Amino acid sequence: MTPGAVTVDGPAPCGLVVTVSPMRRRHLRAVLAIETSVYPRPWSSRLFEDELERGGRVYLVARIGPTLVGYAGVLMIADDAHVATVAIDPAWQRNGIATRLLAELVRQALAFGANQMTLEVRMSNVRAQEIYRRFGFAPAGARKAYYSDNGEDALVMWAHEINTDEYAARLAVIDQAQLPPTSRQGFDAPIRVGASSGNLHPAADRAGMDRS
Ligand SMILES: CC(C)(COP(=O)(O)OP(=O)(O)OC[C@H]1O[C@@H](n2cnc3c(N)ncnc32)[C@H](O)[C@@H]1OP(=O)(O)O)[C@@H](O)C(=O)NCCC(=O)NCCS
Repeated sequence: MTPGAVTVDGPAPCGLVVTVSPMRRRHLRAVLAIETSVYPRPWSSRLFEDELERGGRVYLVARIGPTLVGYAGVLMIADDAHVATVAIDPAWQRNGIATRLLAELVRQALAFGANQMTLEVRMSNVRAQEIYRRFGFAPAGARKAYYSDNGEDALVMWAHEINTDEYAARLAVIDQAQLPPTSRQGFDAPIRVGASSGNLHPAADRAGMDRS
């Protein structure tokens, strides 16, 4: 990736341009507004702040014009990348924004040496699972009663060998889909991906990764 580069991919089906950039503290007010609207157990501002300070993480935001419409994050554990969160403002869902964010998240994970990616998703969240499947994630097991708000099980999904030509071809297909074009900004300053702080997931200190 060229430092400071702004690239635009894909056709513009409806005139929207999604700007993807690293999450900063100044984004947190808007991030929290979405967080509280989509998750039964939202992360606190403090938790996001801590995450932004830690190494081994990449958090991204998506904006349309000045409006922050979504965000996503991944944390690195050795050569595994663990998707920590993906959320889109309900008013902006079904516009391909999560797809664009995930594509960038995968690229960031690859840039930091990830060879596979994993995540947990509610069994009932079929829509999110479908998006993950497009990115090559396959079900690999379940975590019983993982979500404490309703006791729901988590589906564990993995995407293996993401640093192969085959996976690059999959990403290329996703990039060429009829989704809003993407402008990448703010990647000139290095994202903090030093040693992971204990490799803990942000929610690990509050009875499990049970919020998505
Ligand atoms: C799951 C979630 C992240 C998806 O975000 P999104 O931006 O709506 O996702 P996308 O638009 O990239 O893809 C969703 C669908 O819209 C479709 N789509 C994308 N652009 C479209 C367009 N221009 N016109 C019509 N459909 C479109 C995609 O093909 C996809 O199809 P599907 O509904 O059949 O799966 C979002 O619903 C959300 O934030 N949910 C609450 C939080 C959550 O569940 N997060 C995941 C936790 S693991």
